[in-house]
Amino acid sequence: MRKKLIAANWKMYKTPDEAKTFVKEFIPLVSGQKHADIVLCASPTLLPAVVDATRNNPIRVSAQDMHWMDQGAYTGETSPLMLKALGVTHVLIGHSERRQYFNETDESVNLKLKSALAHGLTPIVCVGELLAERESNQTEEVLVRQTSIGLSGIDASAAAPIVIAYEPVWAIGTGRTATPEIAQDAHRIIREQVAKILGGEVAAAMRILYGGSVKPDNTGSLCACADIDGALVGGASLDPKSFAAIVAGSAV
Ligand code: PGA
Repeated sequence: MRKKLIAANWKMYKTPDEAKTFVKEFIPLVSGQKHADIVLCASPTLLPAVVDATRNNPIRVSAQDMHWMDQGAYTGETSPLMLKALGVTHVLIGHSERRQYFNETDESVNLKLKSALAHGLTPIVCVGELLAERESNQTEEVLVRQTSIGLSGIDASAAAPIVIAYEPVWAIGTGRTATPEIAQDAHRIIREQVAKILGGEVAAAMRILYGGSVKPDNTGSLCACADIDGALVGGASLDPKSFAAIVAGSAV
């Protein structure tokens, strides 16, 4: 059985004080929830405050991106060593906003994934098709390409920590959630592709999250699907009550 994982993607929102206030309100709301792992993905400026506020709590803290190099002349970037030193445990890789606005490619996703694994950071690798790709029946081809290049060169024996997030770009921040049928179909395609690359055992154990306009009222129907193991939540994760309701709703 795969344990559910519910991750908040705060994107470029919140100050350290706002992040601390969120965690303070959020912890009591989820303290009875044991069915899911909870991860907060925050901007680098918030990470020390969030790590501090979640100390002695099972909630884990994630960066939203990182460079694959340990150090170097890369102005503005954050390295895996820097994240580890802060107590960060997870990292989002290849979010569609990074792909769309910051030239993230399948190849850089692959470099970052290998680096995260080498440094003991749990990678949450995002894949997903654009609206134009869905409308021209290219969804499967896009998911297969992103998954294959993203995972290329990874040894099956090192793959256990990897989490994949299926985020159809047309559903992100649009209020247009994929139906459970559409999402399940995409998750099945991704899991089959993982099986081809890393073997059936790794694929069966790998958590695949859905992301794109997840809200408290649609979490249950999405998380009830056979291949959906949790959610990556943007807008609805900014408020502690709403995000706690999503955590509760994933217990299906
Ligand atoms: P959304 O964002 O929940 O606001 O659609 C999801 C994401 O970008 O991870």
